Amino acid sequence: MTLLTQPFLSAVALGKTFVLHGQGGLRIEVMRDLSLSLRPGECLVLTGRSGIGKSTLLKMLHGNYRITDGGLQLHFDDGPLDLAGLPSHAWHVLRRDVIGYVSQFLRVVPRVSAEEVVMEPLLARGADAVEARGRAQALLARLNLPERLWSLPPGTFSGGEQQRVNIARGFIGEHPLLLLDEPTASLDAANREVVVQLILEAKAHGTALLGIFHDEGVRDRVADRLLSLDRHMKASMTAATDPNPGESFR
Ligand SMILES: Nc1ncnc2c1ncn2[C@@H]1O[C@H](COP(=O)(O)OP(=O)(O)OP(=O)(O)O)[C@@H](O)[C@H]1O
Ligand SMILES: [Mg+2]
Repeated sequence: MTLLTQPFLSAVALGKTFVLHGQGGLRIEVMRDLSLSLRPGECLVLTGRSGIGKSTLLKMLHGNYRITDGGLQLHFDDGPLDLAGLPSHAWHVLRRDVIGYVSQFLRVVPRVSAEEVVMEPLLARGADAVEARGRAQALLARLNLPERLWSLPPGTFSGGEQQRVNIARGFIGEHPLLLLDEPTASLDAANREVVVQLILEAKAHGTALLGIFHDEGVRDRVADRLLSLDRHMKASMTAATDPNPGESFR
């Protein structure tokens, strides 16, 4: 798939309502009428107070949360792809090939070493294992993760060590769209700087980035534009009976 130079990602009047089935169908509207566009090589940074819906937007873009209102599209040279209502196998392909995601916390899988956690996105695409391991090691070294930790499962790592494994895993795939949820939150200044450099290099290679950064120093260095979600948040919570009980709470 080749990418257009014009917006790679666009959202129009996006909305999100959670339906809590365990709570009698309680509906919580967290986002309304959000529109954005993002070009290759551009970094758009989401701002807004805690609980406003920043992580929720990234999770909608990664297929973790269902899109409830509006449109979300990726634009390929052979046409746009609508993300709303996409079947799970299509999300699997998108996550493998198109959309990378650095979540705030690493999802630790027992007995899988840090090196293997980082290599996995490349192996999923059928990359050569020796080459994938070499690239994983190079990224972990760049992020100053001590070599003695590479062969260990990250379950017992410190917060900052786990986050660096997570960052290496997110960047290794060189996806055209990369979602970053506070990737520098538990890092020291030296490692924050490595992440800034990784982001700037990804932008130079045409990666479109959508990120959340509480650190203003990082934000100022990587952001091309800021998007405040404050306007798109409906703070009220309305209880109603779920009209569609077959749906998942997401
Ligand atoms: N799975 C879910 N079910 C119900 N409500 C949810 C779910 N996920 C998020 N929310 C709610 O949606 C709102 C937005 O949450 P979100 O995590 O997106 O905020 P945020 O802007 O990322 O905040 P922070 O800066 O603290 O990380 C919150 O009120 C949260 O409780
Ligand atoms: Mg968040």
